[in-house]
Amino acid sequence: MSVQIFSSLENIPKHSTVCIPWFENFDQKLFNQLLAEYEISGLDMASSVFTGKRNNTEWIYPDEHVERLLIFGLGKFSPDQGKKTTIEVAAKSKDKFSASIILDVRSLVQGDIGSSAKKLITNIFKGLIIGLKDAGFYKSKQSPLKEYSYGLLVADDEGKNELHEAAKKGVLIAQTISRIIDLVNTPSNKKTTEHLAIWMQESSQENGFELEVLEKDDLEKQGFHALLAVNQGSPVPAKCLIATHNPGLHENIKTVVLVGKGVTFDTGGLSLKGSQNMHYMKSDMGGAAAVMGTVELAAKLKLPIHLVGIIPATDNSVDALALKPGDVISSFAGKSIEIIDTDAEGRLILADGLAYAIEHYKADYLLDLATLTGSVIRALGNYAAGIMSHNDKLVQSIMESGEKTEEKLWRLPLWEEYHEMMDSDIADIKNLSDKPIAGAITAAKFLEFFVDGHQAWAHLDIAGTAFGKFPTTKGYSATGFGVDLLINWLEKLSSSHE
Ligand code: BES
Ligand code: ZN
Ligand code: ZN
Repeated sequence: MSVQIFSSLENIPKHSTVCIPWFENFDQKLFNQLLAEYEISGLDMASSVFTGKRNNTEWIYPDEHVERLLIFGLGKFSPDQGKKTTIEVAAKSKDKFSASIILDVRSLVQGDIGSSAKKLITNIFKGLIIGLKDAGFYKSKQSPLKEYSYGLLVADDEGKNELHEAAKKGVLIAQTISRIIDLVNTPSNKKTTEHLAIWMQESSQENGFELEVLEKDDLEKQGFHALLAVNQGSPVPAKCLIATHNPGLHENIKTVVLVGKGVTFDTGGLSLKGSQNMHYMKSDMGGAAAVMGTVELAAKLKLPIHLVGIIPATDNSVDALALKPGDVISSFAGKSIEIIDTDAEGRLILADGLAYAIEHYKADYLLDLATLTGSVIRALGNYAAGIMSHNDKLVQSIMESGEKTEEKLWRLPLWEEYHEMMDSDIADIKNLSDKPIAGAITAAKFLEFFVDGHQAWAHLDIAGTAFGKFPTTKGYSATGFGVDLLINWLEKLSSSHE
């Protein structure tokens, strides 16, 4: 999908929907001048009710030039916002858009917002594309599929290319996030470990990164005991995907390893979950999906960074062979684990993914992402993910990227005292504390036991943010959380010289 660039209203196809974003504290006169160009009768009325407040939306049908005009408010000015509001605005008015969508940024750029304009344009394009998504794949009556085309209307030639690049970048990022949302929304009968491998295989061929798929027999040979233990009750073999983007530019580019929890469905195992919300557990591979999307985009954007994505993948099922509470298993790291609860499976497969990362890579940064605990949702709700790490600078840097991408994080502590709750009498560690408290932290303490004191490890618990209320669907949906955040952080990392 490309973005067409226009520098005059005259050239725009008449059937287009022109979108004009505005801020509440921007010069109203400038805005009125712009609207006047569209020759709208009753303009005064439209612009007098329009405040520019966040989510304030007006649809106008001008007599000349274009069919539809959407003016929408982004609230108080900030170049780092725009994505979230645009998702909401686009989703709310989805039926009103025509197939050709043009973003008019002429006044926005004139408004002396300098380099911020580029960020805003990127963010608004992300919002439009994600907000207009359709989730009804399996409906027998498909809604008339809208293939949108996108355009950017700029004032003149100055800086035109840069603004165009900004728009194209937004489209590129949003396309991957859209595919990730679709993947996480896919039900488990259509999303086995095999499907994850195929998704990644196709992406690797299209975008030019490497992919190694460790099949069940490889996992057995290499000693992924914890991943295999979770997989025991499933007819579908576990896999571990290892995706590598290595631009190989020079020797001192940084190596980042991302590990994502790829549980394609979490029944809880023999420690069976209640059935009320169990259908949401198709999203228990949200961490894996974030990693998959990030590697895809790193390759697409040719980021100067050595990025490795490791995805231990299985479902957590119940049958006669399934792992039992009380069992003691081994792990990739050779450490023994007492299973208290088979529903605490994510940390088991991550333990193997992290230990594999420690053994095979000299990672400058080691991050894991997982829909790991209900506890993090009780602590932070759906608004922020939990981040846990001993590395203050790393936490600060990732949290800052969270602010910039509207994918917020909040830190929880990893103090030594919490480790005691994970001590086992008979094995090196147990997979669940006896006490039903501090669950997100004790889960992270479990993971910490497998990262061998890595100095720049961070754990992101995205259970509350990967899936939930989202503007594009009535019920719960995947959100794509993590992709935009990590890309922002990786871009920052690859341009810093520390
Ligand atoms: N996949 C769940 C965590 C989860 C819960 C994700 C709700 C998204 C929404 C994880 O595997 C799990 O079951 N965790 C349990 C641990 C339990 C055994 C205490 C939890 O946090 O409830
Ligand atoms: Zn579970
Ligand atoms: Zn789980």
